[in-house]
Amino acid sequence: MAIPGSASAADLDAASRWWLDGVVYQVYPRSFADSNGDGVGDLPGLIDHLDYLAGGADSLGVDAIWLSPIYPSPMLDGGYDVMDHTAVDPVFGTLADLDRLIEECHRRRIRVILDLVMNHTSNLHPWFVQSRQSRTGPFADFFLWRDPSGWDRDGRPEPPNNWLSWFGGSAWEWEPRRRQFYLHTFLSEQPDVNWRCTALRPEMWSMVRGWLDRGVDGFRLDVFNAFLKAAEMPSNPEIAAGGSIPWDSQEHRHDKDQPELHDLLAEFRRIVDSQPGTATVGELFTSGIEAAAAYWAPRHLVFDWVLLETEWTAASFRAAIAAREAAWSSRWPTIVLSNHDHSRHVSRYMHTLGRRDRATADAVAKAAATIALTLRGTPFLYYGEEIGAWDIVVPRSRAQDRAAVAMAGWWNRDGCRAPMAWSGDEKAGFTSGRPWLPIPPDAASRNVEQQRASESSVLAHYRRLLALRRGSAALRTGELAIVDVGDPDVLAYLRRAGDEVALVVVRFGLRGGEIELPPAAGPWRVVLSSHDLATPTVGSRVAVRPIEAIVLQL
Ligand code: GLC
Repeated sequence: MAIPGSASAADLDAASRWWLDGVVYQVYPRSFADSNGDGVGDLPGLIDHLDYLAGGADSLGVDAIWLSPIYPSPMLDGGYDVMDHTAVDPVFGTLADLDRLIEECHRRRIRVILDLVMNHTSNLHPWFVQSRQSRTGPFADFFLWRDPSGWDRDGRPEPPNNWLSWFGGSAWEWEPRRRQFYLHTFLSEQPDVNWRCTALRPEMWSMVRGWLDRGVDGFRLDVFNAFLKAAEMPSNPEIAAGGSIPWDSQEHRHDKDQPELHDLLAEFRRIVDSQPGTATVGELFTSGIEAAAAYWAPRHLVFDWVLLETEWTAASFRAAIAAREAAWSSRWPTIVLSNHDHSRHVSRYMHTLGRRDRATADAVAKAAATIALTLRGTPFLYYGEEIGAWDIVVPRSRAQDRAAVAMAGWWNRDGCRAPMAWSGDEKAGFTSGRPWLPIPPDAASRNVEQQRASESSVLAHYRRLLALRRGSAALRTGELAIVDVGDPDVLAYLRRAGDEVALVVVRFGLRGGEIELPPAAGPWRVVLSSHDLATPTVGSRVAVRPIEAIVLQL
């Protein structure tokens, strides 16, 4: 079987194929497990729960974990404002804890992916602290400094161009000491680094090598396609009928996706590729699926957001999957339904359905999981989705996502970052202290302990799916073809690798009915249903109940 990006499966031993046929689990470290009672999750807490993630009898069985940033940070943007790329913030633990995490993960055959934030730093990073002092000195050009374009009538400096911050307002901040502006695509406390500065690259690359030497298996590259801006920094074209957020009032022609980026990425990839068994995934910043596919390279995945933006209807998913297959073609996509920047998918899908009840939510969680773990691509699960977690409601007075709330107003990511519910205790087994965000209100009845004990839980369904996937080349790496089963409310697709075929059928709506199965060489057998544990052999037709997902094989 041809594996995208390599001549044949034999080229890649099992150990180095995890990026292609494994499943990645995103840990938001602040919210996963707190070991020392300060209310914030930490590395020792995560280590305590690795058996849950590994492939034992009643555990999930993921192949890799991706940790959102764990570096020293003032935490104005959840740690995506890094003060030191080479250390661990004390709130999460120490470098020794990270070494132990890597060792304990590897013992369980779990890879460790760190989040690399290389588009910007915190304004407290020593590079910026020095850079802002004066126009001379070793770090003077590490950031994007520009003279004002002019002065207004009151003698105030005017920004160099019209570029916007993603969080709202101008992307330029005045620094009186240099009498220049610096660029910040995100908060003003997150200055963008200057990748055209020849002294910067060796610093970044030595940091990357440092983590690889420590045994890290790969990286997620935060907003990588914004690393390079047009050298002359012209203003972006304005869009007359802008979108719903300020950012969408411009065409972002000059502040991201520059052609030279491909060379920069190649330089980065050479470093990562020199270490066998490693892989990376790039976080695409506000660009489309074609851009995502164009940045792809073997062992270097790229997120696109088509699935994350899909509504809970068969038509919407069919369109998204068709768009993915067209754009990615023989390259290898990722599968993302949720992450730390967006409302959790169960909450979004329940909104589409106009329902709030527990039974429907669990059915949606299982059906969505079936899609996430059987589409073509590498699945990235977001902690908590395996127990069907919803968004929590965080009152403004307790808002922690200061970046989003203060700057954007229209955005608050606290809802999807709730503490993980491990047990039905008052603090959900997450902490003994005051949790940094509220414990989910349904934690007493929706938690890992309880779902581990129930064969019909969302967690049990995830476990069965992961096991099924592990045993099926068709589901892991097979080709995908959408099939028409004669019911607009049902999504169906075939996965095929050699002689092995799997058929995935998902009903989105609340009314059941029979569908016609595609003709096949033998009888279809249900190998997994999100509604019950029976696995009947079926004829040419099968009943699909409301919000049911089934996987069939020959
Ligand atoms: C990425 C992160 C997001 C962060 C932003 C700025 O999009 O996922 O959480 O706010 O980068 O670093």
